[in-house]
Amino acid sequence: MADLSRRAVIAGGAALTGAGLMITKPRDKSGPRAAYFLTMQKALIDAGIATPTLVIDREKLNANIDVLTKHLPAGMGYRIVAKSLPSSDLIAHIRARSGSDRLMTFNLQMLEELSAKMPEADQLLGKPLPVAAARRYFERLPAANAAAADRVQWLVDTPRRLAQYSALAKTVGRRLRVNVELDVGLHRGGFVAGAALGETLAAIKADPSLTFAGFMGYEPHVPALPKAFGWRERGLHAAWRAYQAALEQAAERFGGETVSSLCRNAAGSPTYRYYETTEIANEISAGSCLVKPTHFDTELLKPHQPAGFIATPVIKAMDKTRMPGLEFADGVKRAWDPNYQRTIFIYGGNWLADPVDPPGLSYNKTFGRSSNQEMLNGGRDLSVRPDEFVFFRPHQSEAVFLQFGDIAVYEDGAIVGRWPVFPASA
Ligand SMILES: Cc1ncc(COP(=O)(O)O)c(C=O)c1O
Repeated sequence: MADLSRRAVIAGGAALTGAGLMITKPRDKSGPRAAYFLTMQKALIDAGIATPTLVIDREKLNANIDVLTKHLPAGMGYRIVAKSLPSSDLIAHIRARSGSDRLMTFNLQMLEELSAKMPEADQLLGKPLPVAAARRYFERLPAANAAAADRVQWLVDTPRRLAQYSALAKTVGRRLRVNVELDVGLHRGGFVAGAALGETLAAIKADPSLTFAGFMGYEPHVPALPKAFGWRERGLHAAWRAYQAALEQAAERFGGETVSSLCRNAAGSPTYRYYETTEIANEISAGSCLVKPTHFDTELLKPHQPAGFIATPVIKAMDKTRMPGLEFADGVKRAWDPNYQRTIFIYGGNWLADPVDPPGLSYNKTFGRSSNQEMLNGGRDLSVRPDEFVFFRPHQSEAVFLQFGDIAVYEDGAIVGRWPVFPASA
C-alpha cells in the first residue's frame, strides 16, 4: 500500500489515501490547440463548411499507402478493403497510388457501384452474400457492366452455399468464380482441411458452371492473443498451418501450379505486416490502416498515421459546467475535477469517435450522449468559440465514414475536393 500511494502522489500530484482506498485527483488535461488542427480548422472555415464533416488528410493517406506498398514482398498483391474506405473516389485514389486493381467488397450496393465505376477491377466478396442478393446483382446488371461480373469472386463458406451458387450460375447462364472461405482460427465460419473441403473442391471441379478462384483466410484474432508464453506466435503459425493444409488439399485436386497461381487471400490491417513472403498468401487485404482509426493504434501499425478526422462546429461555449437538476453539486464536481470546468455543445455527436482537439475534452457520462447537440467538458485552458471546430478520431472507418455526406479532402492547408461516400446500407 505504501508503494502504491507513493506512485499515486508521483502520478497525480495529489492523492487521498485512507482505509485502503486511494483516489487520485485528476490533472487538468486542457492546453493549447495543435497547430495541425488549427490549420485544418482554417481550411474548413475558408471552404464554407459549417456542418459535421469527415476530413481525410491526403498527404497522410498517401504516406500510409506508401508504408503498406513498401512492406509487400515481391509477388504479393494488395486488395483494397472497400467497406473500410467507403467511397469510390477514395478507392480510385488508392488504386492509382498503389497500382492495385483488386477490391474486397461487402454488400450488394457496393458491388453494383464498384462494378459500374471500376469494371476492370477484380472484386472478392469479403463475406458470403446471400444467394438472393447475388441473383439481384445479375438481374440488375446493366449490359455495359457484363464483363465486370466475370471478375467477381463469390465467397462460399458451406456446401449448401456452393449448391446455391451452382444453381444461380445455371439460372443466369454464366460461369461463376467461387472463392472458398477458410477458417484459419477466427471461427467465423468457412472450411478447414478435411472431408467437407474435399467434397466442395470436387464439386467445384465437376461443375462446368463454376471456376475455382482461390481461398480467403482471415486471421484478425492473432494480434488479440496475449504475447506471453508465445500464444500469439502460436496462433499465427496455427493459422498458417491451417491455410497450408487447405492449399495442399486443393493441390491434390487441381495441381500445385494451378493452386499457387490462384487467389490466396489473407490478412487485414491488424495482420498484414506479418506477411513477409508469398509462401501462404499471394495477396493481403487491408483498408482501415490507410486512415487509421483508433482501433488500429497497435504495435504492428505504428508506421501508419491517423488520416481521417471528424470535424464539427461548436454551437455553444460556456465558462461553467452545470448539470440539469444537479446544480447543487456542480461546484464540488468542478473543484474536484479540473476537466469539468468548461462546457461546449457541438453540432451533432454520439459518433463512435474520441475528441482529440482541443486537448482534454471528454464526454459527460451524467449528461449523456446526444446526436443533436452533444455536451463535451474541458479544463480551464479550453479555448474554442462557437463556429470554431472540434476534431475527433473515429474508432473505426467502416460505417462511421458514411455518416457525414461527402468526405472533405484536405491537402496543403486547404480543402481541395469532396469524395461522395457509398450509400449507408449493410
Ligand atoms: C474478410 C476480411 N478481410 C480483411 C478485412 C480487413 O479490413 P481492414 O483492413 O479494414 O481491417 C476484413 C475486415 O472486416 C474482412 O472481413
